Amino acid sequence: MLLSVATSLDGYIDDASAQRLLLSNSADFDEVDRLRAESDAVLIGAGTLRIDNPRLLVNSAERRATRVSSGRPEYPVKITVTASGELDPQLRFWHTGGAKIVYTTTAGAVRLGDRLVDTAEIVCLGDRLDLTTLLDDLAARGIHRLMVEGGTRMHTGFLAADLVDEIRLAIAPILVGDAAAPRFVGPALFPGGPQRRLHLTGVEQLGDVAVMNYLVGAPTDPVHPPDL
Ligand SMILES: NC(=O)c1ccc[n+]([C@@H]2O[C@H](COP(=O)([O-])OP(=O)(O)OC[C@H]3O[C@@H](n4cnc5c(N)ncnc54)[C@H](OP(=O)(O)O)[C@@H]3O)[C@@H](O)[C@H]2O)c1
Repeated sequence: MLLSVATSLDGYIDDASAQRLLLSNSADFDEVDRLRAESDAVLIGAGTLRIDNPRLLVNSAERRATRVSSGRPEYPVKITVTASGELDPQLRFWHTGGAKIVYTTTAGAVRLGDRLVDTAEIVCLGDRLDLTTLLDDLAARGIHRLMVEGGTRMHTGFLAADLVDEIRLAIAPILVGDAAAPRFVGPALFPGGPQRRLHLTGVEQLGDVAVMNYLVGAPTDPVHPPDL
């Protein structure tokens, strides 16, 4: 699974205003579009859905045509995760692209009722949303290449459960500086803690955005600290 995120220089993924903060530039957005086109599915949490109201599409007609010519659906499956079932059926997510799946709890499914009937498949995972169970369900549907695109709680949950294979981190030249703004991840017991170093596989400059790619599970060379 690929986790793709854009952050400010000081580690925020948005500001605290009602307007979505533009972190990426057009070259970076285009790369994200390419990665979406290579994915079987893209996933965002219900928080991002409610706050940003994204369409979560592949924008390039050429990339969509390539998908179709290789026997895949025009758009990757769009997935969201909600425990509460608080999802507005008017959001753009539901009215664009192809198949949609909502993972929810028993209580969330009750709350959703028939609001998304004919719009999305509702998958109830029981009393709590276990992300390993969610990925197992996706794999059973043939969805192996998953791209997770936020927000904080989804990043934190997948990383803490050690379910992320790769991270694509785009760093924008912006300082947000507001403790009320959301960060890349929240506090969590991440596997290996701060002693675990991720394997950096690439660094790329896209205009004023720096993109770093990490392999999460790959072994890294030990670091020998200088004798300070
Ligand atoms: N810069 C970027 O790359 C980027 C990308 C995406 C989002 N963002 C930003 O991220 C912010 C939103 O982050 P967020 O943390 O509030 O929202 P989020 O991670 O998108 O969604 C959190 C919601 O998902 C559901 N959920 C996720 N994991 C769950 C679990 N294990 N158990 C139960 N429910 C679970 C819950 O929904 P319910 O509340 O419905 O139960 C929870 O409130 C926004 O400001 C957005 O702009 C930035």
